[in-house]
Amino acid sequence: RTILVLNGPNLGRLGSREPDVYGSANLDDLRVMLAAEAGDDVTIDLRQSDDEAELIHWLYEAVDTQSPVILNPAAFTHYSYALRDAASLVTKAGVPLVEVHISNPHARETFRHTSVVSAVATGVIAGFGFDSYRLALNFLTHQP
Ligand code: DQA
Repeated sequence: RTILVLNGPNLGRLGSREPDVYGSANLDDLRVMLAAEAGDDVTIDLRQSDDEAELIHWLYEAVDTQSPVILNPAAFTHYSYALRDAASLVTKAGVPLVEVHISNPHARETFRHTSVVSAVATGVIAGFGFDSYRLALNFLTHQP
């Protein structure tokens, strides 16, 4: 079983980008942490793109392969109806999709208080640093 861990724009800069908000660990650290957490029967396929189209195509892939998704849409969270519609295809296909955020967007600027993705996600976890992903993985690995 593969779990797709999809990360949106600017998250490739994790580690050096606003470490006071996002911490000093990078995506490779996240990949290692999730792989260790996942156990032998689950493969973590962690990807990052700054490109909306690429993220959308990865969500189609999740539908086609019936792979659960952990999605950090990053800034697309707040305005990408296209990404939202693609996320909706995933959950409408009966495939779970957990929206995650490292920071707590509700404690930040007003424009971050709205997520256009949340309404079509299975659930949302935000504000726990990389543990947001770990909690999402924990949920997904306990799904039948
Ligand atoms: C984020 C929160 C977003 O508001 C922001 O644009 C990001 C990261 C988070 O993980 O906390 O890029 O999704």
